[in-house]
Amino acid sequence: MYPHVILSCAMSIDGKIGKKGEQVLLSNRQDLDRVHNLRGNADAIMVGINTVITDNPQLTARQGGKNPVRVIVDSNARLPVKANVLTEPGEVILAVSNGASRDRLITLKKNHPGLKMVATGDRMVNLKNLLMNLYERGIKVVLLEGGGALNHSMLEGGFINEMYITLVPVVLGEGIALFNGKAPVSAKPHLEGIIQHGDQVVLHYSVPR
Ligand SMILES: NC(=O)c1ccc[n+]([C@@H]2O[C@H](COP(=O)([O-])OP(=O)(O)OC[C@H]3O[C@@H](n4cnc5c(N)ncnc54)[C@H](OP(=O)(O)O)[C@@H]3O)[C@@H](O)[C@H]2O)c1
Repeated sequence: MYPHVILSCAMSIDGKIGKKGEQVLLSNRQDLDRVHNLRGNADAIMVGINTVITDNPQLTARQGGKNPVRVIVDSNARLPVKANVLTEPGEVILAVSNGASRDRLITLKKNHPGLKMVATGDRMVNLKNLLMNLYERGIKVVLLEGGGALNHSMLEGGFINEMYITLVPVVLGEGIALFNGKAPVSAKPHLEGIIQHGDQVVLHYSVPR
């Protein structure tokens, strides 16, 4: 069994969610409130390691309540010891591949004894095994918050059930696509609704498995 996975992201009208190595703020206040509301209803938030390195997010639910578990997908244990995700209260699960450096894992564990680790996959994290592991830990709803590479792998694997995509009227030019991968994906999202927040539009899709 897998958790129910909801993707949430803000995207420019030229289909980009960010720029390589640079933090870009796309959501307006209402959209941020919407994201925090989704976080408050999720058991876990899941992000790729490049997002942690670029944005250094806290990944907390600011509208009160318990922080969801933070899951970081990081094959080679590149997670910086001083990352904000490690300093906020709440559980953090670092998903690595079996090839991750032992020294890096020991350093991270020494600095953050509460950090949980899941090792699966040879070169990259095996998302199917990770999701089954999360489900067994009682995580039934996962909010997927990017970035583009992780979004692509998750959609390609058939693991996404719902998507909230906020369309922001800016053109970022060269950048990271919402689904940043080489292969086309055969998923057929179904439009469930449209919400307008000022000049931003949230597209809500369900994704049949
Ligand atoms: N606008 C928004 O809503 C939003 C939300 C989130 C992020 N972003 C932006 O997105 C950008 C980061 O996106 P990104 O595409 O570069 O990186 P990403 O998706 O955050 O992280 C991708 C990395 O995760 C690791 N990984 C491990 N197993 C994986 C697997 N099975 N599938 C995919 N990745 C796996 C890989 O690195 P290793 O091989 O080293 O493990 C991979 O390079 C940042 O600029 C950030 O600001 C925007």
